[in-house]
Amino acid sequence: MSRKNLNIGLFGFGCVGLGLYEVLQKTPGLKATISNICVKDKEKKRAIGKENFTFDKNDILNDESINVVVELIDDADAAFEIVSAALKKGKAVVSANKKMIAQHFTELLELQKEYNVPLLYEAACCASMPIIRNLEEYYDNDLLESIEGIVNGSTNYILTKTFSENLSYDEALLQAQEKGFAESNPILDTGGFDAKYKLLILLAHSFGYVAKPKDIFNIGIDNIGELELKYAREKKLKIKLVAQAFKSETGNISAFVIPKFVTPDDRLYNVDDVFNGIITKTSFADTHFFVGRGAGSLPTASAVLSDISALSYDYRYEY
Ligand code: HSE
Repeated sequence: MSRKNLNIGLFGFGCVGLGLYEVLQKTPGLKATISNICVKDKEKKRAIGKENFTFDKNDILNDESINVVVELIDDADAAFEIVSAALKKGKAVVSANKKMIAQHFTELLELQKEYNVPLLYEAACCASMPIIRNLEEYYDNDLLESIEGIVNGSTNYILTKTFSENLSYDEALLQAQEKGFAESNPILDTGGFDAKYKLLILLAHSFGYVAKPKDIFNIGIDNIGELELKYAREKKLKIKLVAQAFKSETGNISAFVIPKFVTPDDRLYNVDDVFNGIITKTSFADTHFFVGRGAGSLPTASAVLSDISALSYDYRYEY
């Protein structure tokens, strides 16, 4: 298969951006070069030289030699501006911004159609676990009945550390932040919002059901009290923050994010630490179980890399 040469304009050089830079250095087979990096903070010390950076987004958006924009910034509103501008200029886009994608799913779909350019976002959902492309490709004709899983790495890390290692909640959260797992506003993790954004993306690719964040309940781990912890310990259960969606016989979709007691015979029971796990149930294949690192620099960068590689052979989601 002949592959395109990709000239990348990167937005954001935080934990995942740096991870992508490292990962690309170690992937000589792929003809993909980062030619410019746009960052916000002029003062921040960077791991690579100043000459690699710009502070003006138009240096990338107006550069006709750049055919791929990789968006790895934190701010969902700014990300939407960048991504829509890039699509309008005919540039393919890779994004890891689940909030931005969940909030603007329909507009992004329309922009892709109108300008005939792909937007890929495997890293936005469960980091290194290749779930979106599996939902798109493998289950194309085998109908999905339900999807259930742990889709937030930080809360799973916090639950694992507080439950099994008796760390305090604050210590465990601090560790999740230090390891680069948590969002810059960690309430997005602990309140189940991040899991909800991911669930919304999964819903679109599992059932073709496009919903808005306000359509789905999310109850976070902050609602777990001493009583629930004591009960779980006594009964040898674990508590996991689970995102769940299923289709009823009449075709209605139910979806929510909620902490759940999990028994040792449940496959999610051993999905600990920063790992994510998803169980799909289909009409013909019965169940599948996906597991992978759900956050962190290199695992998330690996999903971005996979999308970049897919763009080199013109892959796009069919929805
Ligand atoms: N804060 C997110 C998580 C990062 O902990 O899962 C990866 O999406």
